[in-house]
Amino acid sequence: MTSLETGLKAVVVGASGGIGLAVAAALEADRRYASVIRLSRSQTGLDLVDEATIRQAASDVGDRFGTIDLVFDATGALAMDGQGPEKTIRAIDPAAMAKQFAVNAIGPALLLKHFAPLLHRDRRAVFATLSARVGSIGDNRLGGWISYRAAKAALNQIVRTAAIEIARSRPLSLVVALHPGTVETSLSADFSRNHAVFSPAEAAAKLLAVLEGLDSSRTGGFFAYDGQSIEW
Ligand SMILES: NC(=O)c1ccc[n+]([C@@H]2O[C@H](COP(=O)([O-])OP(=O)(O)OC[C@H]3O[C@@H](n4cnc5c(N)ncnc54)[C@H](OP(=O)(O)O)[C@@H]3O)[C@@H](O)[C@H]2O)c1
Repeated sequence: MTSLETGLKAVVVGASGGIGLAVAAALEADRRYASVIRLSRSQTGLDLVDEATIRQAASDVGDRFGTIDLVFDATGALAMDGQGPEKTIRAIDPAAMAKQFAVNAIGPALLLKHFAPLLHRDRRAVFATLSARVGSIGDNRLGGWISYRAAKAALNQIVRTAAIEIARSRPLSLVVALHPGTVETSLSADFSRNHAVFSPAEAAAKLLAVLEGLDSSRTGGFFAYDGQSIEW
């Protein structure tokens, strides 16, 4: 957001999660934001695998605000149904892989479908979604986690494609995928050994600062918590 604007309205999706909770708190503490709506599966019933709940949530936000300045999507999953990410292609399970795509790629695509129409047409408006560096194809040197990696790579393509389309009607929009770094949340608890770990509050501050520093010329990009662009 440009620093002089006030009365801003934000929606945080996945506000029940480690990073989402911290992002919502940081926005609420920011005097430029007049309203921050927290949406989540566990607290408000927005389930990424049930489009009707997304449509309803967007319709409710539209009824209340008309247009909005920021949608921050902090949803996502690594382990699902107690099953962690695969270490080898021998462990590929089609149902588990489909669920990864449903939550990490198709869900955010549906958020774009239903929330992008609420972004301002005539001034800056941001849609940011949490991807992961492991979704980068060019940066993949370790292998493993094939379903999560592939779903995040798909998410990155969805963001890029949607950004191009959204820019036609909203030339000041910024639609981006973000990598938060390794953040101390329930998602990372079993996998963060040997990695630098940020607290959720630190990650939220860094990610919001990255958004502040980007203008619409950077729409469709994939950025890390330090503002660096990540290769696809
Ligand atoms: N933590 C890290 O180190 C790290 C690193 C790289 C990328 N990321 C990405 O950052 C994002 C947030 O991660 P986190 O660490 O904050 O995880 P988290 O604490 O586990 O939070 C995950 C959030 O996703 C929501 N969610 C999961 N499935 C959903 C569904 N079907 N419908 C709606 N909401 C759903 C959860 O909602 P409920 O709890 O309400 O069900 C929760 O709000 C993810 O996309 C993750 O891939 C995290």
